[in-house]
Amino acid sequence: MRIIDHSSFYFRNIESAVIHPDEEVNIIFGENGQGKTNLIESIWLMTGFYSFRARKNIQLINYDREEARIESVYFSHGREQSAQMKINQKKELILNGVKEESPRAMMRSFYAVAFSPLTLGIIKEGPSERRKLLDVALSLIRPNYALIMSKYLRAVSQRNNLLKKMGDRARDNRFYFEPWEEEMIRLGSGIVKYRLEYIEKLSQAASEIYNDISSGREKFEFCYDFMQENANVKDIEEKLQAGIDRSWVSDLKRLYTGFGPHAHDLIMKLNGRDAKVYGSQGQQRSCALAIKLAEASMIEKAVGESPVILLDDVMSELDEKRQSYILNYLGNRQVFITCCEPSTLLRKGRGKVFEVKDGKIEETG
Ligand SMILES: Nc1ncnc2c1ncn2[C@@H]1O[C@H](COP(=O)(O)OP(=O)(O)OP(=O)(O)O)[C@@H](O)[C@H]1O
Ligand SMILES: [Mg+2]
Repeated sequence: MRIIDHSSFYFRNIESAVIHPDEEVNIIFGENGQGKTNLIESIWLMTGFYSFRARKNIQLINYDREEARIESVYFSHGREQSAQMKINQKKELILNGVKEESPRAMMRSFYAVAFSPLTLGIIKEGPSERRKLLDVALSLIRPNYALIMSKYLRAVSQRNNLLKKMGDRARDNRFYFEPWEEEMIRLGSGIVKYRLEYIEKLSQAASEIYNDISSGREKFEFCYDFMQENANVKDIEEKLQAGIDRSWVSDLKRLYTGFGPHAHDLIMKLNGRDAKVYGSQGQQRSCALAIKLAEASMIEKAVGESPVILLDDVMSELDEKRQSYILNYLGNRQVFITCCEPSTLLRKGRGKVFEVKDGKIEETG
């Protein structure tokens, strides 16, 4: 998968920019606040997912305009394809000349993996960041997952509504909750099964990458906090039921369903200790990056396309050995790397260099 042309118009501070990226390495450099992340974000939006740093469309549109537009010509699934996305209150997508109902149509056509400073949240923040990682990755490679997840969340929200509606009366009337709980267990066990399968592979791939990033000196691994691999559906269902039963009393108090896949977590360990608590800045960055690169390799296996790799501000805090490993690891995948000042390492490398200044993007020698 390669981007051939990418254009952004009135996208944040980028009024108009057209780039013809290199097939492999693209270095985007410039001072703070010039538009580097904006460019990366506009490429990411072509995946059809939400922005990694904005939930509202309005934030993506230039302050003085009503609408932003991004366009890409790219090579994917053996042919050249083109997509145009208009961003106003909604996102309007035209894919290969055909108007699509939703930007989600891009999920079967354009693939990317993005690392941004916010990705460090996988290591540094609470469980929801780690679940988001699983949910986004799985809905991409297992379309059924997103469907099961949305039905599951509906069951949870129905149970929550009932908790609120019944208040104190709920205590002696648990049977009213059974239909929603059965639904949560049936759908939840499907979610857990998908997650276990994915986590096992992702963890293995990320461990190998981390091992190489750290020249074999450190060990990174992670697992699901709920249950180990190779659990069967019956085990999962029983454990979910037990968890729901256990949290009933506190659910009554909090009027909220506190247990289930919507509250599960991943445990990240660096050299056997919690990476969040004991990892250094560079180590945590390397962990998050190893996960993202592993994610890219999982997409590659599942859809047969190597995703475009977007690395925003990844090299800072990494020593030269680690930087050089990453550049080698990327091989011939297409990558966009932002930095303030391209290091000698990056400058020596292959590919094209673009300078970003006040929202304008120019290829430099
Ligand atoms: N909707 C918008 N309209 C116009 N300008 C915007 C909009 N949203 C953000 N900006 C501006 O875009 C500029 C560039 O942001 P961006 O995050 O891309 O910078 P950057 O080059 O990545 O900087 P850094 O090196 O600090 O990460 C900022 O000055 C910001 O104020
Ligand atoms: Mg930035």
